[in-house]
Amino acid sequence: MTSVNFISNEKLWSIRSGELQYILKVADDGSLVNLHFGGRVEPVESISLGGHFPFEPSLHLLREEYSTFGGLRFMEPCLKVELPGGVRDCVLKYESFKIEDNNVLSITLKDISYELFADLHYRAYPAYNIITKWAEIRNAGPQPVILEEALSGAVSLPRGGLWRLTFLSGHWAGETRIVQEVLKAGKKVLESRRGTTSHQLNPVAFFDAGDAGEEEGEVWGCLLGWSGNWKCVSEYVGHDQLRVAMGVNDFDFSWHLESGESFKTPKMILAYSASGFGGLSRSLHRFERGVVLPRNNATKPRPVIYNTWETLYFNVNEENLKQLADIAAEIGVEVFVVDDGWFKGRNDDRAGLGDWVPDPHKFPRGLGPVIEHVKSRGMIFGIWVEPEMVNPNSDLYRRHPDWVYHFPGRPRSEMRNQLILNLSRSDVREYVFNWLDRLLAENDIGFVKWDMNRSFSEPGWPDAPRGREREIWVRHVQAVYEILDEIRRRHPNVIFEGCSGGGGRVDLGAMERFDQFWTSDNTDALDRLYIQEGYTMAYCPKTMGAWVTGVPNFLTNRTLSLEFRFHSAMMGALGISVNLLELSSIEKEEAKMHIEFYKKIRHIVLDGDLYRLKSPRSGGLAAFQYVTPDKTESLIFVFTLQQGFGRREPLLRVRGLDPSLIYEVDSSGQSFSGLYLMNYGIDHGIRGDYKSKVIYLKARR
Ligand code: DGJ
Repeated sequence: MTSVNFISNEKLWSIRSGELQYILKVADDGSLVNLHFGGRVEPVESISLGGHFPFEPSLHLLREEYSTFGGLRFMEPCLKVELPGGVRDCVLKYESFKIEDNNVLSITLKDISYELFADLHYRAYPAYNIITKWAEIRNAGPQPVILEEALSGAVSLPRGGLWRLTFLSGHWAGETRIVQEVLKAGKKVLESRRGTTSHQLNPVAFFDAGDAGEEEGEVWGCLLGWSGNWKCVSEYVGHDQLRVAMGVNDFDFSWHLESGESFKTPKMILAYSASGFGGLSRSLHRFERGVVLPRNNATKPRPVIYNTWETLYFNVNEENLKQLADIAAEIGVEVFVVDDGWFKGRNDDRAGLGDWVPDPHKFPRGLGPVIEHVKSRGMIFGIWVEPEMVNPNSDLYRRHPDWVYHFPGRPRSEMRNQLILNLSRSDVREYVFNWLDRLLAENDIGFVKWDMNRSFSEPGWPDAPRGREREIWVRHVQAVYEILDEIRRRHPNVIFEGCSGGGGRVDLGAMERFDQFWTSDNTDALDRLYIQEGYTMAYCPKTMGAWVTGVPNFLTNRTLSLEFRFHSAMMGALGISVNLLELSSIEKEEAKMHIEFYKKIRHIVLDGDLYRLKSPRSGGLAAFQYVTPDKTESLIFVFTLQQGFGRREPLLRVRGLDPSLIYEVDSSGQSFSGLYLMNYGIDHGIRGDYKSKVIYLKARR
């Protein structure tokens, strides 16, 4: 099907992607204008460019597609450059276009006098109502150009009215909390300056007119596929026009473009739904599973993991790992992951990062015997690494103190007693790639958890080629991506989990390389309901690592039942980090039963559609429903929060079923039509606080 159409007499392009339509036009002055971003429009030719007010530049410039700092433009620019001769004025005009495979559009713009080009690329994904866009800035002139800002792009929302912004905010051990605020005037900037995606804000911005709900109303989504400093600027640029620009943060950024060089921005992902936030999330989830996730594992189920962290912390050794592995296998675990603490000198977080050989005291015979033991119990062996980091107390740092980001003669601030390796340097990149490659080549490792536990500070690169010092923000991320891409190519059977002290590096760029993420260091099953709710606004449950851990929880001191903890963790990629050695035989049986059940139903959670039936933020009750794409199976996870006498929760009206099918409830023999379940509802039947239940619906043949 043709997604991109060109109407030549109008110099207009229409990109149709399912429910979403994006329309671009060349104005009479040669500037490229975003005429429309939203639901479907016909006929596209009738859309007008806007008028002109005295004392104002032309109104169409308020909707310029890739605006610059230049001419009469006063908004957040997508591009700000220094051209030869110190010229800081840049004005881009339409040059040419090309359409490939009916769904990729590239439009080339050029500065009015210098040979600087911006190639704007658009790709439609009609099956998902999504368009991705990115830009390539090319210097075809004879002299260098300096980029001071080069965003992925901007969108212009339908003009008029107040917009409500929904975004994900938080902190370490409290990521992806949903925040909503009405934007009234001026600029709202969401960003990271920490070198990673960040726990504090995630590159996701949803917009609605203030009236959209979970399943109704129009919602627009803008996301960025980038794991370093980023910025999202929502700005009323005048005359009720809201514009959203997104890309690599220009803070402390500059990029030197030699003659013949180009700079490619990360992708901005545009989504639209007329079925509320839930509809938008489901489109994104399907897109992630169908397009973004690494292809080799995308359609495979996520394995049940045991991770040693919340049981042993740094105290891992051959003996205790074998003991744990025996019980892990007994209860049905599929991947046994040795977290932090296995490498040389790593007895706490003050030493060892950088020295990636097994600690000779803990593993006198190397990792081999543990790996063999794990495999003999029918499990895959997994390992934790933190490749970008070094402790000053390590052999690596003693050998190469110049390998970290720093400014000569200035402090090197430590966070968690560690410094960041300067991956902008090719020798450091090679070193990191080589030890990781060797580790995977020499050991039978099927799962890697790649962690990253600090923010950037003192981002100096003393040996940088002149003029390239501030490129580290981008070069570091590019290096992480390159290493991961090549390691994945050489070790295609390994599953990679992304972690950054929990969910500090979850984004659609990272998701092209990581099969799943460690969502948060907060493993309290109740706190997790909120974190997971926010996570699933943008990211699919298939990637959402969730563990069952011990009680009282190490962070919240809360004690919840094993059942509640399992149910909360089963809503994503299930893991266990409870101390198995301390489980009673009854608890072990219970854990085994939950894991067995999860294996039977995980296809519904991991590859199904999610309906957030009731938010924990609304109090009383939380409920999340998953439905297989063919609508024949569904799961409803119900959690009671604080209930009050006389305050009766409404029946759970489920979603996404086939109204004409008859569904059996929990193999109980009780059956109801989809129509009944969706319009009348189902009584969850739970009494008491902090209880949980999973209701399984199966269509009768
Ligand atoms: C932070 C991670 O989020 C934890 O799961 C654990 O891997 C520790 N790092 C290990 O240092």
